[in-house]
Parts: sequence; C-alpha cells; structure tokens
Amino acid sequence: MEVECSFSNLKLKYDRLQKGGFFIANIQSIMYYNEDTIVYYKGQFIKAVEARGNVYDQSLHYGYAVFEGIRSYHTEKGVQIFKAKEHFDRLRFSAEAVSIPYHWSTEELTAISYEVLQRNNLKDGYLRPLVSCAPNMSLTKPKQSELLIAAWAWPALLGEKLLKLKTSSYRRISPASFKVEAKVSGHYVNSILASQEARDLGYDEALLLDINGYAAEGPGSNLFIEKDRVLYTPQLGSILPGITRATIIELAHELGIEIIEKQLTLQEVYNANSAFYCGTAAEVVGIGSLDDKAFPKPWKESLGATLQKVYKNLVLQKEYRTIEKIA
Ligand SMILES: Cc1ncc(COP(=O)(O)O)c(C=O)c1O
Repeated sequence: MEVECSFSNLKLKYDRLQKGGFFIANIQSIMYYNEDTIVYYKGQFIKAVEARGNVYDQSLHYGYAVFEGIRSYHTEKGVQIFKAKEHFDRLRFSAEAVSIPYHWSTEELTAISYEVLQRNNLKDGYLRPLVSCAPNMSLTKPKQSELLIAAWAWPALLGEKLLKLKTSSYRRISPASFKVEAKVSGHYVNSILASQEARDLGYDEALLLDINGYAAEGPGSNLFIEKDRVLYTPQLGSILPGITRATIIELAHELGIEIIEKQLTLQEVYNANSAFYCGTAAEVVGIGSLDDKAFPKPWKESLGATLQKVYKNLVLQKEYRTIEKIA
C-alpha cells in the first residue's frame, strides 16, 4: 500500500511494509531534483538537468570518489549548516586518504553550500558534496577531480519509529583492505548489500559485524547501546568515525552519562537494555529489536531518547542544557 506525505517542498511516497507495519521512505521515489534545481558543479552554479558528466570518469567505473552527507536546519537564527567544518574537513581527509586531488578550502565549500541551499529555497536541507575523478580507465591515482554540491529535502533516513534490525550476513569492509575511516563512494556497495538484504527479509535495517565478528555499525549510521545506565559504542577501527557519533559522545559527557568505546560482541548487543543508531541522515533513531529479540527498556525511558531530544535541540540551536543532568 502506498501513501503520500508532504515534507517541506516535496511530496514523498511512502510504502507500507507488510511486516512490522512501519512506514519506511521508499528512497527511490524521492525527487532529488526537478527542472529548476540548482547544483554547484565544476565551479559553477548550474541547473541539475544541465550538468554533464563523462562516461569515462574513473569514479563511475570504479566507485573512486569521496563524498559527505550534511544537514542544514531552519533555526531561530536562520538556516544553519550543522558541523560544516567537521564535514568538509572529513571530505578533505577522505580525498587525501585515497589520493584524490583536493583543492578547496572548508570556508569556500561552506559558503558554496549556503548558496546552494538558498538558490534552491531549502531550509531543512540535506547537502551532498561529492569529489569525483576525471576520465581515466587505469588503476592509478587521478590528476584531476571535480566537485559537486547538490542539496535536497530529506526526512530522517530511517524514519522515526523504533527499528527492527537484522544482523547482516555481510561483514563490514576490512580495515586491512580499505580506508574504512574515509567516506569513499565504493565502500557503499557493502552498505547497499547489507541494507537491501535486511529489507528483503522484512526488517528495517541491517547491523554489520566487523571482520572479527564484533558489532560494527549500520550501513549508514553508528551504533550505541545502553546497559545499566552506561552507554557503549563500538570503538574506532572498523567503522566510519561519525560526526553524529562524536556529537553524541560529547553530549553524553556534558550530561554526565558514562560512555565506553569498546569492541562489542553480538551477545552484548542482545543483552542491552536499549539501543540506537545515529548519523547525519538518520539523526538519532531508536532500535526496537535485533534479530527479533526486543530491547526491554521502553524507548522513552532510555538514555537514547534523552540524547535524541538533546541532539535535536543542539542542531536547532535551542537551549539543550536545560535538560536535567542524568546521574
Ligand atoms: C557507514 C556509516 N557509518 C556511520 C555514519 C554516520 O556518520 P555521520 O554521523 O558523520 O553522518 C555514516 C553516515 O555518513 C555512514 O555512512
């Protein structure tokens, strides 16, 4: 069954999943652009429909490109891009990690991003900078790269209901084979396989284990679990060091919540009181169950629910410190 839902200036179609009864955005039916959409591409603001790529681009053939996902929020102080510096610093880091030429400053890209938002009349927007490589069919580093900054309205990627997760049969990419800490386009084939497998099995999203069998992350988000009033999250090494993850860790410290970064076994995740995913696109979203084992703590009473509220206040630049400290 399909229903329509309006979001900002877009009309989205939502599919009702037979199992679980959640409404999940059918991503493929979202309009990322229309005839009037403006993107910044190859040094110019142009219409998206007039942007011309090259069919011999190394990025198209080998997934050799780096990108970011950034949100802007309509705050009382106007449109604010959340953690622009951190995202553009990571874009540079990702490009350098895989030897893609990068010659833009963070300040320049932030200014361009605000202009892309403004030209498309977007306030609560999602920005997608992508650095792609010029035509080159060889397996060598490129001499030239191109920058795209696109933007569209995107509701929370995984919805707002508690997620039904399935442990993936696919393992997170190995740090011995890839620069996992860089946001490289090709890595996302691993994410697509895991996410689609979970959906095909009737779940909302996947949980990927790392190459050694420890819990790693979601296809596009980082994992947190709560056990006995302490938060745990997988340590760095086999995951994307999420900017939202870092924000949640900072907020937890401010709120006096104990937080431990360590390798987490699947059993430890099953035994958690509650759990959540976080990421720029997904924001903070509660996890109801993993492999059909429900987390026992009501979401509203969880540390995740508090952090979800505090995170929302932070991105909207509202006073978030008024929330009582948690002992
Ligand atoms: C694999 C993966 N993990 C985690 C995240 C969360 O990262 P961030 O909070 O920087 O968006 C993302 C999203 O970019 C991701 O793709």
